[in-house]
Amino acid sequence: MKHVLLGVSASVSLYKACDLASQLSQSGFEVRAVLTANAAKLVNPQLFEAVTGNPAQTSEWGPERRGAMDHIDLARWADALVVAPATADLIARLALGLADDLLTTVSLATETDKPRLLCPAMNPVMLAAPAVQRHLGRLMEDGWQIEEPGEGHMACGEAGRGRLSEPVAILERVRELLG
Ligand SMILES: Cc1cc2nc3c(=O)[nH]c(=O)nc-3n(C[C@H](O)[C@H](O)[C@H](O)COP(=O)(O)O)c2cc1C
Repeated sequence: MKHVLLGVSASVSLYKACDLASQLSQSGFEVRAVLTANAAKLVNPQLFEAVTGNPAQTSEWGPERRGAMDHIDLARWADALVVAPATADLIARLALGLADDLLTTVSLATETDKPRLLCPAMNPVMLAAPAVQRHLGRLMEDGWQIEEPGEGHMACGEAGRGRLSEPVAILERVRELLG
């Protein structure tokens, strides 16, 4: 059974990430979720535990710590890293190689020959911002695959490109990447 590490950051679209986690599990993948601290303010990580049957974490410190070095253990465990949704903030931190929380640290610790899929989600103006485009370009150079955001109505009331790709499309992409 292939292992998918699902990274989740604090986008309004993270309700779709719960569906994605569920669909991945139902499709035979072993899934573990790592949320940013802000994502865990939008949704309780316990929901990801319920749909994946596996622990969900935001930190490797304090009561959430599971082993001696969770960022290394999780990176070794993963056959693929899927970040959905990826906020502008997380994209910037990944592009810079920061390691200031569990999700960015495990991302850096994941070997670059493993599939790493990034699924951006944000307001269309944010997505078009030069800094965000620069960071996405850098991540592609670093070997990340980017799942193109969709077009349509956004929770902020605007319309345009920036919607998180649909879970079924991300699932298909993961299937392709993990053969
Ligand atoms: C309700 C809500 C929805 C948000 N949706 C998005 C979003 O879709 N995309 C995005 O880039 N930022 C969004 N933000 C802003 C991020 O949450 C903010 O930049 C935060 O610092 C991101 O933290 P993280 O990347 O560590 O999860 C949202 C904030 C709130 C309060």
